[in-house]
Amino acid sequence: MTQTLADPVPLQAEHRPAIEVRGLRMSYGARQVLCGVDFEVRTGEVFCLLGPNGAGKTTTVEILEGFRQRTGGSVRVLGLDPADQRSRLRERLGIVLQECGFPRQARVGELVNIWRAYYPAPRPLEELLSVVELTADRDCQVRRLSGGQRRRLDFALALAGDPDLVFLDEPTTGFDPESRRRCWAAIEKLRSLGKTIVLTTHYLDEAERLADRVAILQDGRVQTVGSVRQVARQAGVPTTISFTAPGPLRRGSVAPPGRLDVTVCGEVAVCRTANAAVALRELLAWAAEHDLGELDDLAVETPTLEDAYLRIVNGGAR
Ligand SMILES: Nc1ncnc2c1ncn2[C@@H]1O[C@H](COP(=O)(O)OP(=O)(O)OP(=O)(O)O)[C@@H](O)[C@H]1O
Ligand SMILES: [Mg+2]
Repeated sequence: MTQTLADPVPLQAEHRPAIEVRGLRMSYGARQVLCGVDFEVRTGEVFCLLGPNGAGKTTTVEILEGFRQRTGGSVRVLGLDPADQRSRLRERLGIVLQECGFPRQARVGELVNIWRAYYPAPRPLEELLSVVELTADRDCQVRRLSGGQRRRLDFALALAGDPDLVFLDEPTTGFDPESRRRCWAAIEKLRSLGKTIVLTTHYLDEAERLADRVAILQDGRVQTVGSVRQVARQAGVPTTISFTAPGPLRRGSVAPPGRLDVTVCGEVAVCRTANAAVALRELLAWAAEHDLGELDDLAVETPTLEDAYLRIVNGGAR
């Protein structure tokens, strides 16, 4: 049975990485932007490249796509070197550029069909429009689309050739929350088909939601790479346990447990810890010992990707 983009079935993952980058260097004139970038993207994963403006995300992605010649280092994309095997790669890649222009008079369906004609085994038009939820807009001129709809059209074009590997450079920048969720759903559909996806974004909630692994690029290097949880642990951001401060703690007649970092701010007590299970046990024992009753509104908050990212780019983890 043929798999469709709209009705995903899992694909067998290949064993070799989809992308291998070793010691990648790139200079624009005298300015070195990438000074030895290393990472791998596994087949079938969503890999998210994060980093501040100007960190070199688009540069990296364009080198992987074969649009830019690197200054040094080794790169393999689906086993090929994009620097000199770009034509062999082309059919297997789907690309959404950070910015791109379209013939504005063309209609949505026409444009997708023009794109499909470039590929030997394109996905069906109806399916592409359905994945990006533009079926109702197929006769609409491109110039009449909203920014979010245009971005989803970019997405349909990237998928036209049924690529194995999809590059999405800031696919949801400028989207309203609903369009962003539609785009996320499309990315999740692709992933469930076994496609490999490389995504750049400045939206850390987007990365947290979609990415199997993230890499943070800064100062020309990958500062950290791993799953969101691994990155949060590597960044050393503490878990926060909060509860309503019992009266005796607020009044100072009972001291907080000595071995824990507990601060009281108004009605709320906050404990910051690297080991939530141990801290919780100690807090509950302390509350029982001092007859403080149950700790009301007890909540455990693990660090978000945003916490970890900010700490890493601000130098806290290095
Ligand atoms: N064609 C070019 N010629 C000269 N410098 C360039 C060129 N393209 C990018 N740069 C510079 O390289 C650096 C990295 O740019 P790049 O676009 O790769 O960053 P980015 O991480 O994608 O940033 P953003 O988050 O803003 O998209 C920037 O300082 C940029 O000014
Ligand atoms: Mg960019």
